[in-house]
Amino acid sequence: MIHIILRKKLSYFVLAFFLFAIICVWKERKKESYYDSLKLETEGSRVVTSLEKLAMGSGSQSSVSTGKGSQAPSNTRASAKAKLEPSFQVWNKDSSSKNLPSRLRTIRRNYLKMNKYNVTYKGPGPGIKFSAEALRCHLRDHVNVSMVESTDFPFNTSEWEGYLPKENIRTKAGSWGRCAVVSSAGSLKSSQLGREIDDHDAVLRFNAAPTANFEQDVGTKTTVRLINSQLVTTEKRFLEDSFYNEGILIVWDPSIYHSDIPKWYEHPDYSFFNNYKSYCNMHPDQPFYILRPQMPWELWDILQEISPEEIQPNPPSSGMLGIIIMMTLCDQVDIYEFLPSKRKTDVCYYYQKFFDTACTMGAYHPLLFEKNMVKHLNQGTDEDIYFHGKATLSGFRSIRC
Ligand SMILES: *[C@@H]1O[C@H](CO)[C@@H](O)[C@H](O)[C@H]1NC(C)=O
Ligand SMILES: *[C@@H]1O[C@H](CO)[C@@H](O)[C@H](O)[C@H]1NC(C)=O
Ligand SMILES: *[C@@H]1O[C@H](CO)[C@@H](O)[C@H](O)[C@H]1NC(C)=O
Repeated sequence: MIHIILRKKLSYFVLAFFLFAIICVWKERKKESYYDSLKLETEGSRVVTSLEKLAMGSGSQSSVSTGKGSQAPSNTRASAKAKLEPSFQVWNKDSSSKNLPSRLRTIRRNYLKMNKYNVTYKGPGPGIKFSAEALRCHLRDHVNVSMVESTDFPFNTSEWEGYLPKENIRTKAGSWGRCAVVSSAGSLKSSQLGREIDDHDAVLRFNAAPTANFEQDVGTKTTVRLINSQLVTTEKRFLEDSFYNEGILIVWDPSIYHSDIPKWYEHPDYSFFNNYKSYCNMHPDQPFYILRPQMPWELWDILQEISPEEIQPNPPSSGMLGIIIMMTLCDQVDIYEFLPSKRKTDVCYYYQKFFDTACTMGAYHPLLFEKNMVKHLNQGTDEDIYFHGKATLSGFRSIRC
């Protein structure tokens, strides 16, 4: 009897051990394919200087701690150099779909076949090369960042009277100098970027990204919140959660490729209009804009134009839209964790325990190609990307074309 029980116990133990081993191997392989997929670039010569800085304790507060830095003993530098020789890696601006894990490659192909939004792109491109300066101008001149207005049919009918903000968003925003775009990436966790983010004139956040309980990492200020129509339509909490009540709200909804406002109004991706009105009735003083549905496709066209292969025929991500919106409203835009830092992770959001490589690499959205573009446009350093997840782009106002 005892024998049988023991043998049973032993076999359970062996089974449990095998399961554990299988899970471990699977996790390891997933991790590997993720890092492979990033196909990161290395910059040997810069590494040493950045690590020297780090060893001297300047890190993110270089302007604050220069005094301390000068006191750093020189042998610390030397040993840091020796120990930290392996170079760091950041996003490669020429990443291609070949770098994707096979699951995401399949998803991309399926979206290409599906062509849900009837995209009929005829060129120019694909694969046209622009210098970063020329691309900035190209974006400025071809992506019209504006909101639906009360003169646009059918928003000019009595049904819509009094809902859309009267003031142009550019007037409402005034002229912001330095702005922050805060992604919702899991890699913001433990970043300690909160103070740096709050130090900007305006901060844009996305969808249901909270600040409460995450202040140290993401800050407290919300000046603009860009939300998708799905959230407005399906999340009951949209009308209840108080964190939506701060700052300027902008909702966007994907239209059929380049359809005009009346056509889009008949076939929105999500019919968010009733909830939009309910929210406006509850918060009549909060500006709540609707992004012109043409804007995401104007941006998509440029993403396709500059990418050497076919990109997903789905609208750009909220992240990419938010970046372009802030480039029109600000002199300078600091973007946090859109290009992944050393904290990169498969955890999708800093506020949820949900894992998926697609959140970094893209499945529905042409995220890979968006990141290539932001990396190409980045005027900050690779160190800033690696250590702080920070890319810096000039606003359209402050460029000369
Ligand atoms: C998209 O294109 C297909 C095939 O040309 C057509 O049948 C369909 O009606 C189009 N959809 C919309 C919403 O325009
Ligand atoms: C952008 O769109 C708005 C609203 O439709 C329009 O009034 C404006 O002329 C457009 N600007 C450009 C540069 O096309
Ligand atoms: C709304 O705009 C449409 C198209 O510009 C126009 O034909 C219509 O008369 C306008 N309606 C009102 C009530 O102003």
